[in-house]
Amino acid sequence: MKKFSILLMFVALVTSATAQMTQEEKEAFKFADKLIKKMTLREKFGQLEQFITRRGVVTGPGGVKCDIESAVRKGEVGSFLSIRDRNEALRLQKMAVEESRLGIPLIFGYDIIHGCKIIFPENLAMSCSWNIDAIERSARIAAEESAATAIHWTFSPMCDISVDPRWSRVSEGAGEDPYLGAKIAAAMVRGYQGNDLSATNTIAACIKHFAAYGAAQAGKDYNTVDMSELMFRNLYLPPYRAAVDAGAVTVMSSFNDFMGVPASGSKWLLYDLLRKELGFRGFVVSDWNAVHEMIIHGVAADGKDAAELALKAHLNMDMLGGDYIAYGEQLVKEGRISEKLVNELVREVLAVKYRLGLFEDPYKYGKQDLSEVYYRPENMQFARKVAAESMVLLKNDGVLPLQKGVKIALIGPFADAPKDQLGAWRGLGDEKRSITFRTALEERFGKENVLYTKACECGRYKNGLIEGGVEEAVKIAEQSDVVLLSIGLSGWHSGESRSRADITVPADQQELLDALKKTGKKIVVLLSTGRAMDIRNEVEKADAVLLTWHGGTMAGPAVADLVSGDENPSGHLTMSFPYYVGQIPVHYNSKNTGRPAKSQFKAQGYSASYVDIQNAPLFPFGYGLSYTEFEYSDLKVLTPTVELGGVVKVSVKVTNKGKVAGDDVAQLYVHDVVAETTRPVRELKGFERLSLKAGESKIVEFEIPTSELAYCHTDLSWKADKGDFDVWVGADSYAPLKGKFTIK
Ligand code: NOJ
Repeated sequence: MKKFSILLMFVALVTSATAQMTQEEKEAFKFADKLIKKMTLREKFGQLEQFITRRGVVTGPGGVKCDIESAVRKGEVGSFLSIRDRNEALRLQKMAVEESRLGIPLIFGYDIIHGCKIIFPENLAMSCSWNIDAIERSARIAAEESAATAIHWTFSPMCDISVDPRWSRVSEGAGEDPYLGAKIAAAMVRGYQGNDLSATNTIAACIKHFAAYGAAQAGKDYNTVDMSELMFRNLYLPPYRAAVDAGAVTVMSSFNDFMGVPASGSKWLLYDLLRKELGFRGFVVSDWNAVHEMIIHGVAADGKDAAELALKAHLNMDMLGGDYIAYGEQLVKEGRISEKLVNELVREVLAVKYRLGLFEDPYKYGKQDLSEVYYRPENMQFARKVAAESMVLLKNDGVLPLQKGVKIALIGPFADAPKDQLGAWRGLGDEKRSITFRTALEERFGKENVLYTKACECGRYKNGLIEGGVEEAVKIAEQSDVVLLSIGLSGWHSGESRSRADITVPADQQELLDALKKTGKKIVVLLSTGRAMDIRNEVEKADAVLLTWHGGTMAGPAVADLVSGDENPSGHLTMSFPYYVGQIPVHYNSKNTGRPAKSQFKAQGYSASYVDIQNAPLFPFGYGLSYTEFEYSDLKVLTPTVELGGVVKVSVKVTNKGKVAGDDVAQLYVHDVVAETTRPVRELKGFERLSLKAGESKIVEFEIPTSELAYCHTDLSWKADKGDFDVWVGADSYAPLKGKFTIK
């Protein structure tokens, strides 16, 4: 049956671009326009330049050599990044406000990615909690701690969808799914910015990396991105769009080229799409030196050319390159850039500063008593709960939870690793405040019951087995009832520029596992990582695998809570764990193709699969075990037919069939059976975290507006199709319980 597409179900243009300008925004622009009239051209370009201080001197690759303090005094700097010390920030602010001609305050930005002082689990980990409220609150806590440090602006949330765990930056995102990614992106913006940007417990958010940075070819950071516009709009754009709709006031252009043009010089991305279509009205900052790097990309002859391209693309602020301040005035004088454009770019920067309240009181963010804001005990307890909810139980033959009084051999490079557990971006986190697995397990099970040895190094500088490490590990394993083996990848291995072609556990750690296996003791692998990995070997050999990620400041207590059974694991994967690296990209929302695999678990020819390995990943999107068992039954489609524009209603019964209470994440997936374009085999369109006591049942009801079923058609319109849909509800993306509905 051919379906008829109906226009205008959910047209982004309508929802975003026409979003009314608030009174506060109008005021901010009015203020900026007035101020711009007093500014010299050089001062204007000063507002568009962001620098970092290193020993007081900045030498930008754009050829700018300057004494930073005199530049501030001359009004030639609009912003600094990465200032860690509040006194230093306030000193520079005083200089800008009291010694520059117009006294325009500086805006200080920093990478507060998953926490400022209290470090939460890495973002990919946190997304596995599927707890949107908790993620929002974690961002608010980060904002409170940042604002007190005189940091006005975070370079977060990272809204990049990625299906490639070779790309190390997957740790900073929310995984492979655009629907969940959009919910998380919006929650983080709400958390950082709140309802009042000028409050002293909120800061400006920055949507990054615009755009499609997560699709770097071959998983190599900074690499080229190329894809169809349909794919981009369907899979990559939704989280950025959701963050714009949530009101984020800044955006960062990405390093990559996209469809042949570096993002920082792409007027299509930064103006036509971002401003005209999505309705963004804040300012865009480039990624680190990304304007100047357009020379190396091969689209600009020199720094002046690069500045011209970026300015014309409507990129407001040049992070570090120095080309705007070096060549901006000349470009205007030569008629290559109009002063009108410069004024527009400057007003958007000034308006954000105004909305932050910096003109009213430039020092307002540095006034709180830090001891009252940093590491608040209730926030630490919250971080512990978030860490526990983020961890995912991947295998358990019954060894977990551990019995009281059990003797534990705690082994491995990450069992007592206060820095690694904080992950790649550590904000202003102090590793001395980290509570490690060792400390927490000793406290929970008694010091005398926890025998510890590191056995192996893993990190930036030191790697490999420690001399005598395996022997010591085997010795303590033999003296114990169970081995907790903390292996995987270090904090240094995630985040920017740590792409890997090999995503297995390093060989020396596998050797350690093999030696311990020979003792015959039960082995629980505690997997440390910031990315999905190929862990076939560990899953086969261990009796249980708990994915602990880089769980942040409170990772230790969270692990103790889970292995002791005080908390029941409830995390569910938001990124598929591949069976083999050669499968990448492997993700749940793939297409059927004309020749789908007949079995997901058998190698086979003449289908879109492999002749040497299974088609399915090792663990699919949505997967996660618990100490109890949840049964899904009685799926009812309450609206078997629904009008376009209506709401699809589906209910399901979830029963806790086990002996302990637990939380699960009920997930709803759909498939558009006959569409204008090929559609994913399944797409997440709803989820709910629920708590059930032992033996308890609950009916979960999902309401899906048909606008959520819209997608990008070949004419680029965003609309839902009429026709039949399959729907599934269950605890992962393989959920078997199925129903049907039709849109009329
Ligand atoms: C480069 C990274 O790509 C970006 O995410 C970060 O915000 C900036 N550097 C600033 O540190």
